[in-house]
Amino acid sequence: MSQATQSVPFYLQGNFAPVSQERTAFDLPIEGALPPELRGLYLRNGPNPRRGDPGHWFLGDGMVHGVRLEGGRAAWYRNRWVRTRFFDENDPQLVGPDGAVDHTVGQANTNVVGHAGRIFALVETSFPTELTPELDTVGICDFDGRLKTSMTAHPKPCPTTGELHFFGYRFAPPWLTYHRLDAAGRLVQSEEIPVAGPTMIHDFAITDGHLVFMDLPVVFTPSNLAEGRFPYAWNDDYGARLGVLPRGGHGGEVRWLEIDPCYVFHPMNAFERGGRIVLDVARYERLWDQGADAFEPAFLHRFTLDLASGKVAEERLDDRSIEFPRVDERRLGLPNRYGYAVSDAIVPGRRESQLVKYDLETGASRAHEFGAGRRPGEAVMVPAGPDAGEDEGYVLSLVHDAARDASDLVVLDASRFDAAPIARVALPQRVPFGFHGNWLPDAP
Ligand SMILES: [Fe+2]
Repeated sequence: MSQATQSVPFYLQGNFAPVSQERTAFDLPIEGALPPELRGLYLRNGPNPRRGDPGHWFLGDGMVHGVRLEGGRAAWYRNRWVRTRFFDENDPQLVGPDGAVDHTVGQANTNVVGHAGRIFALVETSFPTELTPELDTVGICDFDGRLKTSMTAHPKPCPTTGELHFFGYRFAPPWLTYHRLDAAGRLVQSEEIPVAGPTMIHDFAITDGHLVFMDLPVVFTPSNLAEGRFPYAWNDDYGARLGVLPRGGHGGEVRWLEIDPCYVFHPMNAFERGGRIVLDVARYERLWDQGADAFEPAFLHRFTLDLASGKVAEERLDDRSIEFPRVDERRLGLPNRYGYAVSDAIVPGRRESQLVKYDLETGASRAHEFGAGRRPGEAVMVPAGPDAGEDEGYVLSLVHDAARDASDLVVLDASRFDAAPIARVALPQRVPFGFHGNWLPDAP
């Protein structure tokens, strides 16, 4: 969909359009019954431009929506803009007059995560912004001055060590830097990773032994910036490769394995099996070769990296278009049987879409249809308890209902995925289609 053929871009229309108010509501109406073991906070972030057209869907001011669940009640709903410098100031500059990148400037609009008792709103150009559990902004966090780059919106919590692995990519050197927070939230490692150029690196993957970076051909293109266009574009000459670094290793030890050119925003998961790394992703054949206004379909795709030969096998696993792949995060970096995704997630103009649950062991999949006019966002899997099986728990998603032009927090039984929802919490307004969220459980 091109802005040139439309007076109003898709991200300002329908339920992509921003909401104008911050609201607080208590004791929300529930259809069905909320499982009492759901005690915590469901948070979701997305762009919600405060004024005007930011020029691209990715550039709107971040707004976090939160629903607190406890004791079978939906105790409250809040939505708050993240008070970033974009929100508070008139046109703050990411790049200063001396050419230096200012990592305190960013929209904080892509994800919201918890680690070591803190909550961070994230966007990949900038430092994290800390929030309170009531979604008020605390401020920028640079981990006691130790973080010298931006932070991806997709850090990876290791279920075994409790560490948080992440990276920052930049259009100025160093282009890619890996970082690790320990379980207490201290930044304990930063490693520069040599890549071939200033590529857009949205996400990465971990296994229990390695980190996997994606050096793909959507590259910083200064001429676009000069023309006021989105500064990253497809580059036919760049090639594509996956970088494998042993956990705890130094940046120079990264090993690059060639793959066919493609783009990936989001892996589903990665794990090791018999000397190979299996990496499942939502793969785009190409991205933004005609400008950054169009999103082609992405498909679930498996890379199998043979660490002995350096060869990568590729296989499409499903013909549905999907995005926002997720797993039970107790399986992050470990073999997972199940995965979840949204089918036709970001196809403007569509009135319905589905959640899909994949059984990667058998190759089977099940879709959950929400009904006419209902479109889900990213699915988050919440285990029923610490010892629950991999699909023993609940899948949470914010579903826009066109009939009442408002959103519901819908709770599905993960093991009976196509059955009717267990519970539907009616929010007092719509939640614009956005990006990512997470479940932050209360301490046991
Ligand atoms: Fe993302």
